[in-house]
Amino acid sequence: MRTLFDATKINSMNLKNRLVRSATWENMADPTGRMTEPLFKVYEELARGGVGMIITGYAFPLAEEQPSPGMMGIYDDSFIEEYRPLTEMVHRHDSRIVLQIAYGGSQTGFQPEDRVIWGPSAVADLAFKVVPQEMSQENIQTLIKAFGDAAARAKAAGFDGVQFHGAHGYLLNQFLCPYYNRRTDQYGGPIENRARLILEVYEEVRSRVGNHYPVLIKLNAEDFIENGATFEDCRYVCHELAARGIDAIEISCGTFASGKRGPARNRIDTPEKEGYNAPHAAQLAAELDIPILLVGGLRSPEVMENLLETTEIEYFSLSRPLIAEPQLVQRWQGGDRSPARCTSCNGCFRPNPAGNLCVLTLEPQRDDASD
Ligand SMILES: Cc1cc2nc3c(=O)[nH]c(=O)nc-3n(C[C@H](O)[C@H](O)[C@H](O)COP(=O)(O)O)c2cc1C
Repeated sequence: MRTLFDATKINSMNLKNRLVRSATWENMADPTGRMTEPLFKVYEELARGGVGMIITGYAFPLAEEQPSPGMMGIYDDSFIEEYRPLTEMVHRHDSRIVLQIAYGGSQTGFQPEDRVIWGPSAVADLAFKVVPQEMSQENIQTLIKAFGDAAARAKAAGFDGVQFHGAHGYLLNQFLCPYYNRRTDQYGGPIENRARLILEVYEEVRSRVGNHYPVLIKLNAEDFIENGATFEDCRYVCHELAARGIDAIEISCGTFASGKRGPARNRIDTPEKEGYNAPHAAQLAAELDIPILLVGGLRSPEVMENLLETTEIEYFSLSRPLIAEPQLVQRWQGGDRSPARCTSCNGCFRPNPAGNLCVLTLEPQRDDASD
């Protein structure tokens, strides 16, 4: 029988349990994307807290394209030495760390007027209204190379793997999405074309890190916007990536414009509301021979154990619960199996000069978030 605390392997990466910290932008790096003491501490607490794999907050691979403040950078070789203490620290605690690499695009409110922002087509972002510049073939080649360079740096810095961000309305997701992708060249139109950029990014990353290095992707099961990418689109991409050798796929959903069906849903207060991407993830896990990570609203060990019993999902990713309680996995392993304390209020998204912190730890418990 499979348990949450089975030791497993993703390609060359040994994992002590099936619990993953899903990528979480901490808003604590310095303005150039460099490590700071508070950010290092976040990772130290996570590594100490027992989680098997930590996926970093989204890191930007091109210096001029930072979609949010306080993000980690990976845009030049100086980051290799800079991240080594981080990866070594995580390994000392017998945890693993995977760098998430993301190009943001038009879904940004961070100084958009100061930057050239690329998109598949010049279509305004539904949430932020930013109109990107349609990418030329040359821009596409620059981006593909930037993902490859970033992955090679991550490997050299001691990260145990990389994940590229193909979900949540950021650029790679926008290429899949007919609403944003109005192109008439080989990157637009049928899903075979809309998926081309993601497949080319994967091939480039793989060619730079070799066959034994874990390469993961985060994808939306569905975008939940009008004319967004569908589950059929997601299935196509998953099958193509699996055939090319990707090591694992994390299944999420939604964008900033998806309302109540966004990636980080509110008020997950009953077991029935937990794991809202589980049906899609379970179907993919049954169809594919590679591990599927499920993310979104997971809060209690029983729900995850039930999914381990009834589906082929292999890993369970948590974001907000580990902001509130970085030691949650250790707590569960120690026998206190009460659900995560996180109330899914999304207070961790509220601007705070100290970073994206849990408001429950700052003020009395409340549940007042918007959707
Ligand atoms: C403050 C915050 C920052 C996030 N940053 C990222 C990110 O950098 N990359 C990413 O893929 N998802 C990011 N997410 C989404 C989470 O990884 C996750 O998909 C979502 O919160 C649902 O999981 P949860 O219910 O366990 O929080 C973020 C979520 C929160 C709350």
